[in-house]
This record gives sequence, structure tokens and C-alpha cells, in this order.
Amino acid sequence: MSKQILVTGGCGYIGSHTCVELFEAGYEPIIVDDLSNSEPTILEGIEKICSKKITFYQVDCLDSSKLEDVFKKHSFAAVIHFAALKAVGESVHKPLDYYQNNLGSLINLLYLMRKYSVENIVFSSSCTVYGQADVLPVTEQTPRKAATSPYGATKQMCEDILRDSISAYGCFKGIALRYFNPIGAHPSALIGELPRGIPNNLLPLVTQPAAGIRPMLNVFGNDYNTPDGSCIRDYIDVVDLAKAHVMAVDRMCQGRSKANFEIFNIGTGRGVSTIELIKTFEEVNHLKLNWQIVARRDGDIEAVWADTSYSNNELGWKATRPLSETLKSVWKWQQNITFALRK
Ligand code: UD1
Repeated sequence: MSKQILVTGGCGYIGSHTCVELFEAGYEPIIVDDLSNSEPTILEGIEKICSKKITFYQVDCLDSSKLEDVFKKHSFAAVIHFAALKAVGESVHKPLDYYQNNLGSLINLLYLMRKYSVENIVFSSSCTVYGQADVLPVTEQTPRKAATSPYGATKQMCEDILRDSISAYGCFKGIALRYFNPIGAHPSALIGELPRGIPNNLLPLVTQPAAGIRPMLNVFGNDYNTPDGSCIRDYIDVVDLAKAHVMAVDRMCQGRSKANFEIFNIGTGRGVSTIELIKTFEEVNHLKLNWQIVARRDGDIEAVWADTSYSNNELGWKATRPLSETLKSVWKWQQNITFALRK
């Protein structure tokens, strides 16, 4: 059976870590990425870690004819679909870009999977589909609330497109992994989160002031109904998260799925506040950050963290890397890229 796995968005943050874990598990990742929000240096990092050249196509998944060329050249055991736009704030200002890109690329992929008899797909979903849940932690059965951004709406719609296609055509199996907040970097510090321009997510905004690239970290609000007033999230290590994809591929390829479409929460099961995260980062890396409290950010959810019992018991996956190690890996990665930029 083919061991080739198509990884769309494989040069991105989670995609790159997943390629490494796929390779280590004996699969051959084949990357499709348009490099619109990733750097060729990440591909070099993957190749260094794996000591192997990785097959890469610079293709936009919206370009179905170029994407079809990739399907013609390979025989895939599964597709892992990461390629998507992901900035919540930007999606509010550019909704058409988000709907066109995120829905269009999944639809193109599913058409091609049917045509070329590729049966299995892992989809990058997000805890954003829950919105602000009434009961915490959230389980996979927690009702989805109305999306608070076009980005969130695309994740909900993509899950629906997948569910409907799987049920109508009877030729696919799919697993949607609902990620909580991915952070961290590979222990080699050869790959990690590499945002272009001003980052949106918290961790680069923590490490960049620490590296002297940005003057100050702003904490958005300390008047939430949480123990220290800042928001609570479930920060999941990116290598642990990458391993969940390998387990999802194994599960489908080995015929262990319980249903043709399954959903798993991928988090630690532990909520950590923004302030707690910053203090832990300072403590484990022995440094002091410049940070201040500012007004709440529009659209932020107060608190969300995962009930992971279903992914632990059914997928057999569990987060293992302690937060302290994850936060050390992020700092090591930031120092590496800062050094590379200054060279
Ligand atoms: C959101 C989505 C997540 C999605 C991600 C994509 C939710 C619950 N989560 O993550 O599913 O994949 O966007 O980008 O909808 N913060 C600061 N200062 C900063 C930056 C962030 O205090 O400069 C705080 C935020 O208020 C938040 C936490 O840090 O409480 C994490 O923020 P961020 O990394 O942007 O992720 P989410 O908004 O949780």
C-alpha cells in the first residue's frame, strides 16, 4: 500500500511539524504549498531533520489543474489538508478571500480525491467552531455556536462540506482534528512558527519582545471572569499536535475508524491564562518580559479548553510535552531565527 501522504500547507507551522512526524512514522510526505504564508527555509529545516529531500510542489490548492497534476504523479494513501488562511481579524475585513480560499481549496481536493480514488482525509479544524461555549471544558458533542468571524465560519463550513461529501459519495473517510492553541517548536529548533509581518498569535508576540524585535507585549484585558482576569486557552505543543495527524492517518489507513467521519479535540485538557503563560515563559527561560495590560481585543473568547477524553481513549493520542519544555523550545527557536536574520 502507498505510504505517500499529500500534505497541503506542508511548509506552514503545523504542516511542517506534521511532515517530520509522518516521515518518522514511515510515511512519505508530499508537500503542496503556495508559500503565501511560509518560507522556503522551513522546507530546508524539514529536510535537515529528516536527512532527506522532500517532494515539494509550489501550487495553490485553488488551482485545480495544477493540483490535478500532483494527483496524476502520485498515489496517495491519505491527504492532510492544512492549507488555509487563518487570521481571525483579517478574515473580518476580507471575508471573500477567506470563503473562496478555505472552502474552494477543500472542494477542489475532494473532487480530485474522488477522481483519483484517494479515500482518506484529515482536516485541520479548530476549537474556534465552539465559540464561547456555555459549559467548559468542551467535548466533541458540545454544540457549535454561531461563528464570531468569517475564519471561524469557514472552519464550521468545511467540517460540514466534509461530513456531507463523506455521507453522499460513500468513497471517503475523514477525520477533523479540532486544534486548541498550538505553540512550541521542534526540539531541533530547525522549524517553528514563522509569521510574516506583525504576528497575530500570542507566542510570537511573547518571544519577539524577549528577542528585542518588538518593544512591548500587550495583554488584551484583565477584566474577564477568570481567576487573574486574563483569557484562558488550552495551549497544545505543536509536536504533540503533529503526532495526532499521524495517528489519524494510521486509524483510517488501518481501517480502525468507528465512523466514516470522526471529530477529535486536540488539546491538553488544561486551561492556562495569558498572564500565567507569560509568567511561565519568563520563569523557564530565566528572563523578564516587557508586558502591559491593555483593552480587550474585539472578538476574543473569554475561556476555552478541551475535554480530551475521547481523543485519549478512542484515538489513543495524548499530549505529553510539559508546558515548560514547550516554552523553552519556542525561545530556542526564536533565538535561532533572530540569529539567522542578523547574519
Ligand atoms: C484564535 C482561535 C483559534 C484559531 C486562531 C487562529 C478561538 C478560541 N481561537 O485563537 O482557533 O486557530 O485564532 O489565529 O477562537 N493575546 C494577548 N496579546 C496579544 C495576542 C494575544 O493578550 O498580543 C491573548 C488573546 O487575547 C488570547 C490569547 O492571547 O486570549 C491567545 O491569542 P491568539 O494566539 O491570538 O489565539 P486565539 O485568539 O485564542
